[in-house]
Amino acid sequence: MSPLEPSGTHRPQYRLRWRGLVRVLDRAPRLKARLADLVRGLLQKVFDPGLVTTERVIEYPFVFQHVDGIAGRVLDIGCCSSGVPIALASRGFRVVGIDFNPYPYAHPNLRAVRGDAMRCPFATGSFAAVLAISVIEHIGIGHYGDPQGSAGDQAAVREIARVLRPGGLAVISVPFGRAMITDFQRIYDPSRLTDLLAPLSVVHLEHAWSTAGLWAPCSEAEAASVDWNGPARAVAMVVARKPEG
Ligand SMILES: C[S@@+](CC[C@H](N)C(=O)[O-])C[C@H]1O[C@@H](n2cnc3c(N)ncnc32)[C@H](O)[C@@H]1O
Repeated sequence: MSPLEPSGTHRPQYRLRWRGLVRVLDRAPRLKARLADLVRGLLQKVFDPGLVTTERVIEYPFVFQHVDGIAGRVLDIGCCSSGVPIALASRGFRVVGIDFNPYPYAHPNLRAVRGDAMRCPFATGSFAAVLAISVIEHIGIGHYGDPQGSAGDQAAVREIARVLRPGGLAVISVPFGRAMITDFQRIYDPSRLTDLLAPLSVVHLEHAWSTAGLWAPCSEAEAASVDWNGPARAVAMVVARKPEG
């Protein structure tokens, strides 16, 4: 067994994606470790640290902080590349993930569904919490091979409000700064974010930015000044509730 792969950890996801390669490399653990070092070294040459450290470094702790104590099912929208559903399932939460693309990890507490966040295949009021981390800005744009829809972001937030039970919690993050729309995503400014979140009741709003590759909390005005055409980045992180009654 390679030191990179303690027993019982990575098997299910390897089985789905890299089964053949992993089986071969398992027979040569030293070669496997050297290949991993080589790939890490190449990645460091290709990407500068600012690109390697993404906003997930601040968004995921925000999620874990705010789902603490949630009783009931948690839905993660746009989960396909995220470690959050498997982490929460491993921690004992009952998690459902939905993404147009397949989720690579498996866990008894996790159900991964392939579907469209603009038309969630879930009953009204069936979740205690819904997470949407860096996903709403993409919905309807079609970059990931997902269905197109001009106001896909608003449709997704309406769906979040529908599937939450009254008083249920939404934890949402989106790119923030000077408003723009590209063929990849939308960037929200304060007024567009307010419009987006209209179906929910915002109880907590934080901003964070990265000006030199490191993420840190910042004020709304600082985040709103960020121009995504340049190297700086900013996000808004929101906790909201579905209004009761
Ligand atoms: C930037 S990634 C999400 C990041 C992820 N939440 C994380 O924490 O790393 C955007 C995801 O949204 C998914 N997506 C885009 N449009 C969608 C739609 N209409 N329905 C479901 N998933 C969608 C994409 O397949 C992709 O996995």
